[in-house]
Amino acid sequence: MTQMTLNVNGSPHSLELAPDMPLLYALRNHLGLNGAKYGCGLGQCGACTVLVDDQPVFSCLTPCTGLEGKAIRTVESLGTAERPGPLQKAFIETQAAQCGYCIAGMLMRAQALLEHTPHPDEDTIREHMASNLCRCGTHLRIVEAISRVARQDRSAV
Ligand code: FES
Ligand code: FES
Repeated sequence: MTQMTLNVNGSPHSLELAPDMPLLYALRNHLGLNGAKYGCGLGQCGACTVLVDDQPVFSCLTPCTGLEGKAIRTVESLGTAERPGPLQKAFIETQAAQCGYCIAGMLMRAQALLEHTPHPDEDTIREHMASNLCRCGTHLRIVEAISRVARQDRSAV
């Protein structure tokens, strides 16, 4: 076990972890952040997507070692049930979630896109989101939700 400090959603957390522990396990089992989901564990579904230094990563494949000093963000940083952020609001309005299992990962990958490219066209959204899968098949609504936010006149997402 190794003592390390992970910066998650703007707060430092001192944790004793096996260095090769995937970030997903640290988030869910040690920090109680259950938004990111375990889907395939193989980097093939995107359910576990979080941001590390503003880049989407598969947290099921990202070992905790090497993450000290980096800014980790999870879906919990985007808003709350009472005060959803713009993307969360758009996902609710378009009813983009069915079972919801993929949605936290979808939101974080979309968040990364909108921070980098605030007004992407639909092709760009589709290409960017291609690595995140939805078994319920709500991709059309997910793209519509992201497009809604992309069309908004806003200074920050
Ligand atoms: S659980 Fe990480 S990509 Fe599927
Ligand atoms: S809403 Fe069920 S997997 Fe996407």
